[in-house]
Amino acid sequence: MAARVQSSIQNGLWFLSSSALYSINSRGAPNLKNRLQFRHNLFPSSSKGALYCTCRSNNLPNGQREQLVASTEAFVLTTPLYYVNAPPHMGSAYTTIAADAIARFQRLSGKKVIFITGTDEHGEKIATAAAAHNSNPSEHCDVISQAYKALWNDLDISYDKFIRTTDPKHEAIVTEFYSRVLANGDIYRADYEGLYCVNCEEYKDEKELLDNNCCPMHLKPCVARKEDNYFFALSKYQKQLEETLMQNPDFVQPSFRLNEVQSWIRSGLRDFSISRASVDWGIRVPNDVKQTIYVWFDALLGYISALSEEEQASLQTAVSSGWPASLHLIGKDILRFHAVYWPAMLMSAGLSLPKMVFGHGFLTKDGLKMGKSLGNTLEPNDLVNRFGSDAVRYFFLREVEFGNDGDYSEDRFINIVNAHLANTIGNLLNRTLGLLKKNCQSTLAVDSIIAAEGNTFKDTVEKLVEKARIQYEDLSLSSACEAVLEIGNAGNLYMDEHAPWSLFKQGGASSETAAKDLVIILEAMRIIAIALSPITPNLSLRIYAQLGYSQDQFKTVTWGETKWGGLRGGQVMAQPKPVFARIENQTEGEDRREETKAGKKKERILHSKGVAEA
Ligand code: MSP
Repeated sequence: MAARVQSSIQNGLWFLSSSALYSINSRGAPNLKNRLQFRHNLFPSSSKGALYCTCRSNNLPNGQREQLVASTEAFVLTTPLYYVNAPPHMGSAYTTIAADAIARFQRLSGKKVIFITGTDEHGEKIATAAAAHNSNPSEHCDVISQAYKALWNDLDISYDKFIRTTDPKHEAIVTEFYSRVLANGDIYRADYEGLYCVNCEEYKDEKELLDNNCCPMHLKPCVARKEDNYFFALSKYQKQLEETLMQNPDFVQPSFRLNEVQSWIRSGLRDFSISRASVDWGIRVPNDVKQTIYVWFDALLGYISALSEEEQASLQTAVSSGWPASLHLIGKDILRFHAVYWPAMLMSAGLSLPKMVFGHGFLTKDGLKMGKSLGNTLEPNDLVNRFGSDAVRYFFLREVEFGNDGDYSEDRFINIVNAHLANTIGNLLNRTLGLLKKNCQSTLAVDSIIAAEGNTFKDTVEKLVEKARIQYEDLSLSSACEAVLEIGNAGNLYMDEHAPWSLFKQGGASSETAAKDLVIILEAMRIIAIALSPITPNLSLRIYAQLGYSQDQFKTVTWGETKWGGLRGGQVMAQPKPVFARIENQTEGEDRREETKAGKKKERILHSKGVAEA
């Protein structure tokens, strides 16, 4: 249920807690009813945990002079809304894969999650792309946004909301938001002359450009533009933004990006134009049909409009369905829009700020950002078709430290995926189940808790899985994968040291010890399956099925079940079947084909020799 609070926004002091927004009541006691538990390490319960937002929206008309407070307990997570100038590439898929892993982890931890993604469909860039394909913008957007949905499906992205900025409910919310900001006195009309990068959809400062006025990101010349536009009074919010960041240094993550944001603000914020007279493909400015709303002033609102269930949405209904977002996941190139422009826009409209903005690094190819504009992209569909979604998800989340850049190489992809998923995890499970079948009719001899009595292996697993949990909470996805893989390494070591296959041969008490060893390894596999499921959901399901569980049991599993002791004596495992097929790299494949050819030749020689000898 949403709480709606009347207030004089000018004097109201609002706290964005580590979870939801809560107000100070007349006696000064915080109303904690709606508080969510969020990442304790990022929003500790100290004063650092509260994000102040002193909203000075005193010019809003009475009807709008209110703060909307979401009381939902949901963990609201967003990806950027992707431009539909071209189909998705691996760079855009990367943000979404990471977001999906975080969403799945939060669900496993018992949170209600609202995972928002979508497409950014207005503006000059999109209209130009449509024209280049001899299409009209609307049809073009339908095709490309469908391509995003199809890819998310292939990559097992479990999003809850897909917002398109051409959805009528979104357009209604943008118009309402614009009117609020206007009513607050933060929009004015002026002429603007400057250098514009169409790919960034942004006017650029000359000093940040390369030779020939080239945009440093897209390496294409910016064009001189002069426009009569509406402007948003960003400069008015400089002090409030500075204070907000000072009091909430965890608002921008990873922490090393905070300095950058603070220095942008410190160097002086310039008002920015929020309408385009020259662009037809967009949402009309209220009361001026000759202008359309600037794509960023439009798309950012998608994070709110996505929350609305209704087709005829209003800001109020959307906000009360889950705002503020817990986490905006974005690439570092759009940090300024999310950590400076967006909070100022929200302050102006009297709405609470998201709790965190995380700017990850770039996937690069030969050191350059992979992207549609540079044309150096990697085809995610191709990768998924060749290697499967688990391999793609695992590689990028394991290989690239989340927050930093990472270069792609196919050899590395194949080596990592084979070593970790096929060998460390897949082989361990397969050989353990093989031994269990041969010696114990695929049936567990005892409960895993009994099997591990007095055994330090259990402690090792418990420590590693707790480490993985903390890393997930910290959004350190690569380290989380590493901690889970360490369980697999420890399992392999345990098998090699205890050699249950020879204990079985000895029979008697040794055989009983060996049967317990198998239970121990399979219990570790069960824990690995759960702990790796945010990253490799299909592989985890296959492991679970091998351990004799149903798909429904897998679907309802929780992080709490990573506690040692799930497997029970008498439980029957499935017939051993490899859960992850090793990827053959080209050289290996060629070597093998050569070997096969050589083998056949040898066979033919022997055969003809035999025939001759007969
Ligand atoms: N439409 C805007 C976002 C509006 S959000 C309200 C936009 N779209 S985009 O399609 O250009 O980029 C979307 C996301 O993909 C950005 O976070 C961007 O950083 C990310 N990536 C695009 N190329 C990338 C790489 N090569 N590597 C990692 N992520 C990159 O910006």
